[in-house]
Amino acid sequence: MLEVKNVTKTFGGVVANKDVSFSFEEGQIVGLIGPNGAGKSTMFNMISAIFPPSEGEIIFRKQRIDKMPTNAMAPLGISRTFQNLQVFKNMTVVENVMVGRHIRTKTGTLRAALKLPGTKKEEVSAYDKAMEYIQFVGLQDLYDHLAGNLALGKLRLLELARALATEPKLLLLDEIAAGLNHKETKEMSNLIEKIRNNGTTVFVVEHDMDLVMSICDKIIVLDQGEKIAEGTPREIQSNQRVITAYLGAEVEKNAQ
Ligand SMILES: Nc1ncnc2c1ncn2[C@@H]1O[C@H](COP(=O)(O)OP(=O)(O)OP(=O)(O)O)[C@@H](O)[C@H]1O
Ligand SMILES: [Mg+2]
Repeated sequence: MLEVKNVTKTFGGVVANKDVSFSFEEGQIVGLIGPNGAGKSTMFNMISAIFPPSEGEIIFRKQRIDKMPTNAMAPLGISRTFQNLQVFKNMTVVENVMVGRHIRTKTGTLRAALKLPGTKKEEVSAYDKAMEYIQFVGLQDLYDHLAGNLALGKLRLLELARALATEPKLLLLDEIAAGLNHKETKEMSNLIEKIRNNGTTVFVVEHDMDLVMSICDKIIVLDQGEKIAEGTPREIQSNQRVITAYLGAEVEKNAQ
């Protein structure tokens, strides 16, 4: 499904990703882990075409995507959530999800805003679809609340619903469980598994090791921009290079 080939990304003098290669098949939950600054979000930003790699190729379902514009990704079947939430605080839950849904409908936001002929029916179906995903993540009681009034756990569910509303084949989740309590994290794990079981491949960046180890079929580990390991949760847990990378990061943090 996805193939990352010798990808390097530099920002001025900073090498965020260095000659990274990996691939995975459809139907899995794949984890991307590594200490802070390892290059995880940068990799997601390239896969979702926020910016291109400095070197290398990214291939999604046999198609090269690394030179495509960002807005080509959702129609191709890639959608994502952001580490720093990107919801519209002055819009309701359902409106936020409809923004995500709009790119799947023929009538874009502008057309709908102008209420041109032919928009009404699609508006209704965009609304119905949005409600379907809101129900799926369990936000149905809050559908008409302003996003700005939601607690963090609900905001993360809202981002998830919006990403799902584009009906992706590949869903990228960047620290979707960050800041969630134990119960919310467990519910998020269950939802991710449900999404995979419904046929969407899920690629997760996550610091919560319990979540990663319990739901991922396969894990890729980055450290300082480089891939240092790849394997099953069991293999990764006992990998000496991975343990050293995480311990090193801990020692550095404590020294600061
Ligand atoms: N847009 C950017 N401009 C300049 N430097 C960047 C940019 N994005 C990332 N970097 C740098 O690239 C490196 C990797 O950052 P990245 O955000 O990918 O790490 P990460 O693994 O997601 O970390 P975290 O776990 O803290 O989210 C860091 O040194 C970061 O400062
Ligand atoms: Mg990050």
